[in-house]
Amino acid sequence: MTTQKRDGFSSRIGVIAAAAGSAIGLGNIWKFPYITGENGGAAFILVYLACIALIGLPIMLGEFSIGRNTKKNTVGAFEALAPGSPWKYTGWLGITAAFVILSFYGVVAGWTLNYVSLSITNAFAGQTAAQLESSFGAFVSNPISPIIWQIIFMCLTVAVVLGGIKNGIERYSKILMPLLLIILIILAIRSATLDGATKGLEFLFKPDFSKLNMSAVLAAMGHAFFSLSLGMGTMMTYGSYMRKNENLAVTAVQVSIADTLIALIAGIAIFPAVFAFGIEPSSGPGLVFITLPNVFSQMPFGTGFSILFFTLLAVAALTSSISVLEVIVAYLYEELGWNRVKSTISIAIPITFAGAILSLGNGTLSHLTMPFLINGGISQMSLIDWFITLSDQLLPIGGFLIALFIGWRMDKDSLKNELTNNGLIQATYIQAYRIIIKFIAPLAIAFVFISTLFGFF
Ligand code: PHE
Repeated sequence: MTTQKRDGFSSRIGVIAAAAGSAIGLGNIWKFPYITGENGGAAFILVYLACIALIGLPIMLGEFSIGRNTKKNTVGAFEALAPGSPWKYTGWLGITAAFVILSFYGVVAGWTLNYVSLSITNAFAGQTAAQLESSFGAFVSNPISPIIWQIIFMCLTVAVVLGGIKNGIERYSKILMPLLLIILIILAIRSATLDGATKGLEFLFKPDFSKLNMSAVLAAMGHAFFSLSLGMGTMMTYGSYMRKNENLAVTAVQVSIADTLIALIAGIAIFPAVFAFGIEPSSGPGLVFITLPNVFSQMPFGTGFSILFFTLLAVAALTSSISVLEVIVAYLYEELGWNRVKSTISIAIPITFAGAILSLGNGTLSHLTMPFLINGGISQMSLIDWFITLSDQLLPIGGFLIALFIGWRMDKDSLKNELTNNGLIQATYIQAYRIIIKFIAPLAIAFVFISTLFGFF
């Protein structure tokens, strides 16, 4: 359906805000801290940073290039560059990953909305860490309210996606992301100056490699993909909306830096408080929801900050969730020729339904667990953890295929044209880039992946 007029980003700042808006989300503020806590802290963070620089950044640049070169959705892009080949299944894999991610993302984003409402009613006042932990547990295992919040969040996502690119995604990202950064910095300062904060800072910045194992490395790599929104065509789809004069490499570097900084600042906001209040660093997905209300109660204007923080977190989640949904919507709209409303609604409904089942897995359906191969053995996981782990695996597989595609299959000149804006700008890094994308990134992904699954190390 190439005859349909394509929407696009209208300004340079809009491009960065939208791509950074996609990258920055629950991944940075909810998932990064809790998996860092589960995997022992600083050493895990170093591996994560290496994955961002060596694997994530090159793949982001590659996704931008494929997207802008073809101006198509993720399936259509592979079909355009390698017609009639099985490469289009890489696009399909991305669509599958988008489904998996948005199902659990909507649930966790719903938790965030609930915390906005709890902040408004000042519900955390005077609660101890243990009380906050048990009220979090009671909330997520409730069969009804988390699902209602999830549905509200999914409706917001649908509403923005229906607005289209310029009026929807770009407009919201531009204003709200910088605001999130400011509030996080204030929180980080408060947390790092609490009594007993140093332990948390050490946990974050003093690596102890004896705590690192291969499954932590896979988690770090999977999270690098998740956090940068890579491996499933989000950045490809966004690249397809970018203008020809945008410097893709500069954009990719800026987005990666912004994303990483926000995650680290979130870490500084959370871990000092975790240690100061005696919370377990490995408390899992509830970590942010248990820790930060404690911090707010120790601050002047804590209630106001709490409302603002959870609202902005919900907005950050929204600018990410729209980019996940957009991957599927762009496919339905462009390849099947459905209109935007039909495309958006018909996929949002099954995703919300799947998410509701995951939510029930935290309570009513907690007896249902799923088997997973990790470290050469099978472990059982709750439904939502299973989806989260699945996405940690689907995204690197997608990234592996994308790297191979760019390195070995995509026409060299098309890639060069994208990196140099048809010869208008220099791309002195191009030789090094080809080596990374051809060999280093795919080998690193394959190594981590295979060794973790089968427990070779
Ligand atoms: N990067 C987003 C976050 O950190 C999540 C996301 C993953 C968005 C994959 C798009 C694609 O929250």
